[in-house]
Amino acid sequence: MVCCCLMVSDEIQRDLLEKGNVMIRLEHVSKVYGNSDRKALNDLSMEVPGGCVYGFLGPNGAGKTTAIRLITGVLKPTEGRILVDGIDVAENPLEVKRRIGFVPDSQEMYEKLTGMEYLNFMADIFGVSVKDRKERAEKYLATFELESAAGQRIQGYSRGMKQKLAVIGALIHDPAVWILDEPMVGLDPRASFLLKEELRARAEAGVTVFFSTHVLEVAERLCDRVSIINHGHLIAEGTPEELRSGEHAASLEELFLELTEDSEEGEGA
Ligand SMILES: Nc1ncnc2c1ncn2[C@@H]1O[C@H](COP(=O)(O)OP(=O)(O)O)[C@@H](O)[C@H]1O
Ligand SMILES: [Mg+2]
Repeated sequence: MVCCCLMVSDEIQRDLLEKGNVMIRLEHVSKVYGNSDRKALNDLSMEVPGGCVYGFLGPNGAGKTTAIRLITGVLKPTEGRILVDGIDVAENPLEVKRRIGFVPDSQEMYEKLTGMEYLNFMADIFGVSVKDRKERAEKYLATFELESAAGQRIQGYSRGMKQKLAVIGALIHDPAVWILDEPMVGLDPRASFLLKEELRARAEAGVTVFFSTHVLEVAERLCDRVSIINHGHLIAEGTPEELRSGEHAASLEELFLELTEDSEEGEGA
């Protein structure tokens, strides 16, 4: 068992609220899929402060994608409430979607489009001016070393190239909140490095960056705060340093293994 200071306490919740800077807030959120007798999320409450890189950790099947789909309004919670920038996702989904750039865990794109056509399509959805979309596309295509492929059809792209294009597409409207579901999966080391740099750069620019991962080493080095979920429950929340300072945890990885050692769904890719 880990030190009790790691548990999500009312004190932590109060501290965050007092900062008055909560960008994503989940209040007692539960999700049951269809007729399942299991809760994919079980009374999950958490707050993500603005302008930080926030890691959402958990083994496979923990409920990360479910939570992200609820925050982005793709799915509706069975119980509970979600606020993004103070706006209730259930009441005003469009206002919430405007604020979010979302990179889902799998890239289903219009394969017949070229990369640039896809970026224009995303820019159209969000009503981005011609000037702004051009500037941002140029900037991020350069950042992610995708300029030479921008004129080619997506069907010829590798998985990593599609992922990078989805990342750029999610930034084209300059969102206040950038949400990415397992964004490092499928990226080669160079692309992964570039993305990590950009996650930090966006947070430095004031964007709230929220990403899920089951790779702890990434979160440990990259995140200002992390939460760990398992079986749909929030297990721990804090800075990587706080999570590491538990007396039994020499590293976040060790802590993670300790917290999830009873997981039946921790295997797999
Ligand atoms: N569309 C779905 N229908 C039924 N069960 C689902 C569906 N999506 C996910 N689940 C279940 O919900 C739980 C959480 O899954 P998920 O949110 O994908 O976890 P993670 O992203 O952490 O791997 C798992 O038990 C999974 O089997
Ligand atoms: Mg997932």
